[in-house]
Amino acid sequence: MQRDSSLDPFRARRARIAATLQAAGGGIAIVPTAPERQRNADSDHPYRHGSDFHYLTGFGEPGAWLVVEADGHTTLLCRPKDAEREIWDGFRLGPDAAPSVLGVNEAFPLDRLDEVMVGKLGGQPAVWQPAATPGLQAQLDGWLERVRAKARQGIEAPRTLHDLGPVLAEMRLFKDAGEIATMRRAAAISAGAHVRAMRFCAARFRQDANAGVPEYEIEAELLHEFRRHGAEGPAYGSIVAAGANACVLHYAAGRTELKAGELCLIDAGCELDGYASDITRTFPADGRFTPAQRELYDIVAAAQRAAIDATRPGARQRDAHAAAVSVLAQGMLDTGLLDRAKVGDVDAAIESSAYRAFYMHGTGHWIGRDVHDVGDYLSAGEAPVEQPDWQGGRVVKKPSRKLEPGMVVTIEPGLYVRPAEGVPERYWNIGIRIEDDAVVTAGGCELISRGAPVDAAEIEALMSDAP
Ligand code: GLY
Ligand code: MN
Ligand code: MN
Repeated sequence: MQRDSSLDPFRARRARIAATLQAAGGGIAIVPTAPERQRNADSDHPYRHGSDFHYLTGFGEPGAWLVVEADGHTTLLCRPKDAEREIWDGFRLGPDAAPSVLGVNEAFPLDRLDEVMVGKLGGQPAVWQPAATPGLQAQLDGWLERVRAKARQGIEAPRTLHDLGPVLAEMRLFKDAGEIATMRRAAAISAGAHVRAMRFCAARFRQDANAGVPEYEIEAELLHEFRRHGAEGPAYGSIVAAGANACVLHYAAGRTELKAGELCLIDAGCELDGYASDITRTFPADGRFTPAQRELYDIVAAAQRAAIDATRPGARQRDAHAAAVSVLAQGMLDTGLLDRAKVGDVDAAIESSAYRAFYMHGTGHWIGRDVHDVGDYLSAGEAPVEQPDWQGGRVVKKPSRKLEPGMVVTIEPGLYVRPAEGVPERYWNIGIRIEDDAVVTAGGCELISRGAPVDAAEIEALMSDAP
């Protein structure tokens, strides 16, 4: 039979798990996929595989388990073929076809789960499982109890339990060329969706300057663009925030009407072949920034440039945040958002966390199969050091992790101005965030989401050219 090279990444990942077990003295790793989730009555939420499971198998059906043994032997448990259920719910791979299609050594139907697990756990020195999986420990305890009951037959039960989560997280943190290619495509589709939304708004306000464009209509443009390019759908709930709604960080697209003169903040990205993208753009509804909007927008854009410059191998993941905060805090003082007489200079504004009145979130996170992807943010090999905490105090913890090529991060500074005494009124209700996805490269980082413009003049040009 011809070898299917598309299975190679999955084979290689399973082999790395086996090597980890081997190096730790042997054992068995058990990884279930995600459960199906009931929405109500007999309707389920759309099914989404478990990220770890899919990373190791490429298999997207519910009701599946992977077992990896230290000698490299791999076993899949999956739903059996079922002519009746396949009429209602669609194709099932089934255990007979699974070994050749997925490259595992053997496969069993799901109704043999308990028997297969009890059989495989017997005689193993250790079990590795993703500990954060709800319910898995209880299921494993049941299997282990049954293995322990076989002691008189000379069958030993595993004595050590290990968390497989950190092993998988460390592997997933470094994306291979195939993963980066997929993330590049996901980001390109999402960038196209942001451009589509900008053009859509420009056209609507050109037709009717007094129009009100509901957030849900803009969201529909994004979804259309995601699906027409083959993405599964949004990687997270799309934020489409008209005007003041942009100051609600996790606002979901609702029914508010976007009006001329307001900003529209869109934080939306598609999931493609199991990989997320995460892009935010903020643009003027009618294609022209007001002077106040433009002042703040340019500060956020400059903060993002500083954070991008700080995103390179050897820099710490947190350096991008420090770089962004420095530019944002200076901008807050220059515009009078922060009162110099009360707050002091930029160092004082940072030291006291005064800047958090207008910038209260981090500047980036790992992104990959999950939009907030797995991976340690702290440097495992370094001793704890005293450092600033979030509230203007001090904390002792490990330093932020150093960036390395193959990691993918978001870079997403923002400014959010709620009406308040002492805050210049011209900035009230302006919320701005700019977010891109960056692959750390040997020489710095590559932004893979720049198919949608960031520069204010470029956004205005795009919107004025919109058909
Ligand atoms: N869209 C979620 C985030 O930006 O982290
Ligand atoms: Mn993000
Ligand atoms: Mn986002």
